[in-house]
Amino acid sequence: MCLDEDWASAALVNDVRRGFGRVPRSLPPKWLYDDRGSDLFDQITRLPEYYPTEAEREILRNAASDIAAKSKADVLVELGSGTSDKTRVLLDAFTANKQLKKFVAVDVSAATLRDAADRLSAKYPGVAVHAIVGDFTLHLSSLPVGGRRMVAFLGGTIGNLFVEERSAFLGVLADVLDPGDSVLLGTDLVKSSDRLIAAYNDSQGITADFVRNVLAVLNRELGADFDIEAFDYVPFWDASLKRMDLRLRAVGDQLVRIPRADIELELHDGEEIRVEISSKFTPDGIADELETAGFRVDGFWTDSGSDFGVTLATRL
Ligand code: AVJ
Repeated sequence: MCLDEDWASAALVNDVRRGFGRVPRSLPPKWLYDDRGSDLFDQITRLPEYYPTEAEREILRNAASDIAAKSKADVLVELGSGTSDKTRVLLDAFTANKQLKKFVAVDVSAATLRDAADRLSAKYPGVAVHAIVGDFTLHLSSLPVGGRRMVAFLGGTIGNLFVEERSAFLGVLADVLDPGDSVLLGTDLVKSSDRLIAAYNDSQGITADFVRNVLAVLNRELGADFDIEAFDYVPFWDASLKRMDLRLRAVGDQLVRIPRADIELELHDGEEIRVEISSKFTPDGIADELETAGFRVDGFWTDSGSDFGVTLATRL
């Protein structure tokens, strides 16, 4: 099921015009996930330096049945589900006692979503599997109604949002949920800058390729002429704002034409384009943000290395 055939191209043009019209130049991270980008991200999750995926999997393995029991949900919605790989740990727990009636996956990548939905409906025959191609920040109000719902937002993807976007997002989520529904939130935790930087600057250069791929998306989708190799990948840890800031830096002056957005972009040597932020959290900070939005925290789990956190919170 597709929400709107043209939403992607119209939204891309808007995002490019808005993002390149201000300093630092920036692009929203969702455009990283075309088929190639989704595949590169999948490779990132298996890199030795990139700890979040394994840490979250460890947490879910240990806590999934607790989460199923506490949430009492019979409808599981996963935002930014990607390959729905870790979701299986949750689905196993939610189907063990036949608790689950429906699973809804929401993702911007249609191909990834289709594969995941096919595999899941085969594996969980008793569960109605739905897929929605869409942007979790825009399409929350299209979530299915009815049942006791739990919205899982895993992987630390909420860290892509700026703090004010986060409170808006959690506010809308609280609005579309009914009292008793819940949210399961995966968040990467603040840690040493060495480990953070290593996680976003892997020795094989996969993350650099992943971030640069956004320029290939603009070349293909908007007819742009970015010279992709003429950008250095520069990740840095912003300790005061508690976030990784992932940028591309122009090597040499560049004049880039972006015909389908009807703009020309003049980049000076050393000028940067921010492609993604990845915010890191503290357990208290997560609880504060959820409580401000109208949720009550009912559980917090971390991995043996205390690298990652999973929080279950109920809409009051
Ligand atoms: C998918 C947003 C959780 O922020 O760690 C990984 C994306 N970017 N390496 C993250 C990402 C570069 C990832 N999230």
